[in-house]
Amino acid sequence: MSGVKTLGQFIIEKQADFPYAKGELSRLLRDLAIAAKIVNREVNKAGLMDIIGDTEDINVQGETQKKLDVYANEQFISALKSGGECCIVVSEENDDYIYIDSEISRNAKYIVAIDPLDGSSNIDVNVAVGTVFSIYRRKSTEGKATLRDALQKGTEQVAAGYIVYGASTMLVYTTGVGVNGFTLDPSIGEFCLSHPQMKIPKDGKIYSINEGNYKRFPEGVKKYIKYCQVEDDATNRPYTSRYIGSMVADLHRNIIKGGIFIYPTTAGSPRGKLRLVYECNPIAFIIEQAGGRATNGFSRILDTEVDSLHQRSAIFVGSENMVLLAEKFMSEYS
Ligand code: AHG
Ligand code: MN
Ligand code: MN
Ligand code: MN
Repeated sequence: MSGVKTLGQFIIEKQADFPYAKGELSRLLRDLAIAAKIVNREVNKAGLMDIIGDTEDINVQGETQKKLDVYANEQFISALKSGGECCIVVSEENDDYIYIDSEISRNAKYIVAIDPLDGSSNIDVNVAVGTVFSIYRRKSTEGKATLRDALQKGTEQVAAGYIVYGASTMLVYTTGVGVNGFTLDPSIGEFCLSHPQMKIPKDGKIYSINEGNYKRFPEGVKKYIKYCQVEDDATNRPYTSRYIGSMVADLHRNIIKGGIFIYPTTAGSPRGKLRLVYECNPIAFIIEQAGGRATNGFSRILDTEVDSLHQRSAIFVGSENMVLLAEKFMSEYS
């Protein structure tokens, strides 16, 4: 066991970086990691349990909820309730925000926005899925925390992270001083530091986009895709196309190898498909902290005004130079 650093040890070591009361955020991250381990256990045996497939419910996005969407949502909410540090949870799977009204949460100072299971259509086919979360501090100082506390801009995040349930399970997070990645060692049930100070390469040769929607893309995106496909030795083209359909897994690969992930507006989704509060903002915070770039094709994701909990956004995210070039195509053609 020599040399192994667990997530719990790491968080305590790094508490000094954090400007607010030390223990609270650490406990919040601990609570999220506990729920992640429980979800991981269920994802791992999904094929053996009656947990793959759909429920009969439709979420606020108009998507049929998977059984595992509901299960993961319950696990994260319940861990946050029993931890006592969180006053509001915003989740993809709940129309409204959840106010945690309990004795131990009375003075809770944090708001958590979460996509409990990302890429859930992949669960039935044993392909990587994820979780994305974002943490804010409550701004109001009196009475109950309110919707306004839940609608803060991405720049106000104090921490964000994702879990990818893949060939191995990893938790990656930032508190605004770099990004660190931990791999779950199932034999000891602990996330262990495996990817310290993650940095995304400035350039890459992977582009990730659902090209099936090509005809519905803005002209700038069409032109950028064509650029990726042109043969040119000097710039290493053609690039490689890789699209899993779980944003977290696609992003995780691109952080490590270098690449760009695009989910643009389309003719059918004029504001984009992914959700700003619990998908785009946390991913943008992590990518920026890893040295990458995240915009909606024109402006920075983290500066976007937040009007509603399930607001959608286009996203262009990944290696800085690739995103800059895609933006150039957008400003020229779209
Ligand atoms: P979720 O499973 O949380 O609803 O998110 C699905 C998202 C994201 O994970 C993925 O990148 C994208 O939807 C895939 O959408 P398409 O099938 O339209 O490509
Ligand atoms: Mn969904
Ligand atoms: Mn998602
Ligand atoms: Mn989801």
